[in-house]
Amino acid sequence: MKILFATSEAHPFIKTGGLADVSGSLPNALVALKHKVRLVLPAYQSVLKKVANKGIKKVAELTVNGCGKTFQARVLQLKTGAIEGVEFPVWLVDIPELFDRPGNPYLAENGTDWWDNGERFAVFSMVVAELAMNRAGLKWQPDVVHSNDWQTGLVPALLSLEKDAPKTVFTIHNMAYPGNFPKSLFDSLRLPWQLWGMEGVEFYGHFSMLKAGLIKADWVSTVSPTYAKEICYPEFAYGMEGVLQKREEEGRLVGIINGIDEHIWNPATDNLIVENYSAKKGRIAGKLANKQALLSELCLLRGEKEKRSTERLTNCVDKPLIGLVGRLVEQKGMDLVLEVMPEIIHQTSANFVIVGTGDKVFEAKVKLLAQKYPTRIWAFIGYSESLAHRVEAGADMFLMPSRFEPCGLNQMYSLAYGTPPIVHHTGGLADTVVNATDENIKAGTATGFVFYDPSRHALKSTILHALHLFGKKRTWQKIQKTGMEQSLDWKNSAKKYVEMYSEKK
Ligand code: ADP
Ligand code: GLC
Repeated sequence: MKILFATSEAHPFIKTGGLADVSGSLPNALVALKHKVRLVLPAYQSVLKKVANKGIKKVAELTVNGCGKTFQARVLQLKTGAIEGVEFPVWLVDIPELFDRPGNPYLAENGTDWWDNGERFAVFSMVVAELAMNRAGLKWQPDVVHSNDWQTGLVPALLSLEKDAPKTVFTIHNMAYPGNFPKSLFDSLRLPWQLWGMEGVEFYGHFSMLKAGLIKADWVSTVSPTYAKEICYPEFAYGMEGVLQKREEEGRLVGIINGIDEHIWNPATDNLIVENYSAKKGRIAGKLANKQALLSELCLLRGEKEKRSTERLTNCVDKPLIGLVGRLVEQKGMDLVLEVMPEIIHQTSANFVIVGTGDKVFEAKVKLLAQKYPTRIWAFIGYSESLAHRVEAGADMFLMPSRFEPCGLNQMYSLAYGTPPIVHHTGGLADTVVNATDENIKAGTATGFVFYDPSRHALKSTILHALHLFGKKRTWQKIQKTGMEQSLDWKNSAKKYVEMYSEKK
């Protein structure tokens, strides 16, 4: 099968969160199943820098509508293997007026959305639809176009108006980002009038690119079976429950759990950590060297002198270290974490390491707490892919108390790294972590710690339970090992995508 995979971010080109991990690794898994995949991505400034000197070539040029103007879009092709680990050709949609900007794909340097995000991703989606219809002279017609989140939601809608269009799959990675814009954007982009209305992209008078994908794709999927059920309820659907219930009744809404890329997230081979380890060779002990290295890195990051950091290290290394890496936003339960941390610090000997960026209020609160408890909390407010690996390897347990979580990758990385996750029972967290109850421990199925009510009391008592079991070395090692032995790679899930791609329209 020929698959065109459209996304607004993909590792290792550009990443703000899990969508990039999935867009980088699922196509490789499809290639391994002998399918032909092309990835299409906007040519952001930082991506162009990354691929300069990698033999990039202009393969097409097309004219596309913008708001009250037209753009010349160039399609640049990067060959299979030009970047290590990318086993498929990549098409970069180069429209300098829209994408040649510094910083993040969605946010300007001051942290606010780019003013023209609606136009940027609508135009990108129009180019993808042209590529999908083989109208750019590239002599490649996909059988399936797989688009992801609101940024590419218009793709299935545009293709729904075409004769002999490829099949369309739309994957929801997060319902919290609806891509809502004023109707005037729809008008000024001169989009086909047939797409407007309740059965189209209209959402309470606005233009929703998420709804465009949900309502018009042949198949809608989301990134875990539990989230597929949750989003049919108002609490998780932000007003889209009617559309989702309808797609579910038609049998067109599927939940497929994400996999992890074991070439990147594997403690046995990871070259971003100081000592490799695995469960098979019985050397989970390798984690200790990683914990020591992480603690000394964190001390130095904070500008502590060598002698003081050595003292601190000696004090901390045998105390439990709780890690958290992620976007510091409400979704991730940051309010709960901030409430519970001081209590855990006063009542136990556990220390915390937090790596993240996001909501400025949460960032400031995390920094304040770290200043208040300088010997107990290390906070790195920033984005560091390599530090994220070292936290997974060096922490003893991983905190992920998300209020909702479509899938979540960090808890799976934690399982793989022998760092039992502490999670709220929701979405993909519910599907991937088995609670360490006495029963599950005895049965050898426990892999982490789960709480069922997103409250500070539930989170606190679950952390206390984890800390209690951390003191029971044999039980703890059994939980670590069970987590490390889970098969978390893409094999099964990629097959499920292929089954969906193979269904009739
Ligand atoms: P989400 O996509 O909702 O942010 P996921 O758990 O699916 O959550 O994926 C998050 C990904 O982004 C992981 O690969 C995680 O390591 C990474 N990540 C998030 N914040 C940071 C950060 N500040 N530094 C490094 N990596 C981060
Ligand atoms: C989103 C979700 C996260 C998921 C990721 C990749 O960012 O918040 O739960 O793992 O997409 O699908």
